[in-house]
Amino acid sequence: MKIIGTGSALPQKVVTNDMLAGFLDTSDSWITTRTGIRSRRLLSTETLRELANDAALKALESSGLRPEDIDYLICSNVANTYVSPSLGSILLGSLGCCCPTFDLNGACAGLVYALDMADAFIKTGKAHRILIVAAEQPSRFCDWHDRSTSVLFGDGAAALVVTEGEGFMDFRLTGENHTDVMYYKRSLEVTPYDRVEEKTTPLVMEGREVFRIAVEASVRDVDTLLERNGLTGNDIDFFLLHQANMRIIECIRVHLDLPREKFPTNIQNYGNTSSASIGILMDELSREGKLKDGDTIMMSAFGGGFVTGAAILKWSEIKYN
Ligand code: COA
Repeated sequence: MKIIGTGSALPQKVVTNDMLAGFLDTSDSWITTRTGIRSRRLLSTETLRELANDAALKALESSGLRPEDIDYLICSNVANTYVSPSLGSILLGSLGCCCPTFDLNGACAGLVYALDMADAFIKTGKAHRILIVAAEQPSRFCDWHDRSTSVLFGDGAAALVVTEGEGFMDFRLTGENHTDVMYYKRSLEVTPYDRVEEKTTPLVMEGREVFRIAVEASVRDVDTLLERNGLTGNDIDFFLLHQANMRIIECIRVHLDLPREKFPTNIQNYGNTSSASIGILMDELSREGKLKDGDTIMMSAFGGGFVTGAAILKWSEIKYN
């Protein structure tokens, strides 16, 4: 399976650290030093569906395919306004696709989960041209009085078109339960039989523990994939890592003992956009002409659960108009 189209879309509204310091007990220097984030984009006037649609159209355009050519739409999304229908179903209408679709929740690793699933569909001949859309609004999970979580996230969407071809070499997905370390609960309706009234709980996160788990898990995935494919870190041209915290990326880089140029980032501008983060980064690098034919790329992401997803692929250059 190979990637033949990429797209991304970000909200118009830029929110800087100083703007947050206007109503939270925080500062630009704290946020920058601890996370590397300088600003983020937050949905205000647009909707997540519009962002997802925009990213998908750009990916389709760069792939040279029309919406009707797509035979599966996989959408990675943790939560949006609708529990049902899925974001994928809603997108079918605005994109003009008519194909099976579903949303998957692989938390911040959702894009890699979607790619792994698409790879299986393509290998078995179940689908031939798959559109993957990762669209997330994590800003709506946070309590905006809680400085320890709300400063970390941004909203965004990314899309990839994949089809048969030489590209993805290997995937590694893992999961283990650590619910208490990071969760966001939404209340459900009460029935006459199940009267447990649950309140929505904004994102709860033990930052230090998440940090530790994230570094350990990502390092484990990257090392395993390298070893399994007879590669060393030097053979990888770019590590596209989940953009959650610059210090997490730096810990992984130091472990691998590789130069900074191999670890491009955009967390400075967008914060943690959950499962969209690697896709946005990939789209930007590809459009800037930084990803060359034959480059070897390692993707690695982790997210609530905890789940992780990593992949190695050979890049095929995409032409943009
Ligand atoms: N501004 C100012 N101070 C803040 C703050 C903020 N935005 N958020 C927390 N603090 C304070 C804390 O209250 C604490 O104060 P205290 O020492 O008086 O108790 C102090 O800063 C240190 O907090 P701590 O949580 O230990 O900081 P940290 O160095 O671990 O950094 C995170 C916190 C959240 C940035 C870091 O742990 C992290 O990035 N973890 C991973 C989160 C993540 O990636 N989540 C998504 C996974 S997909």
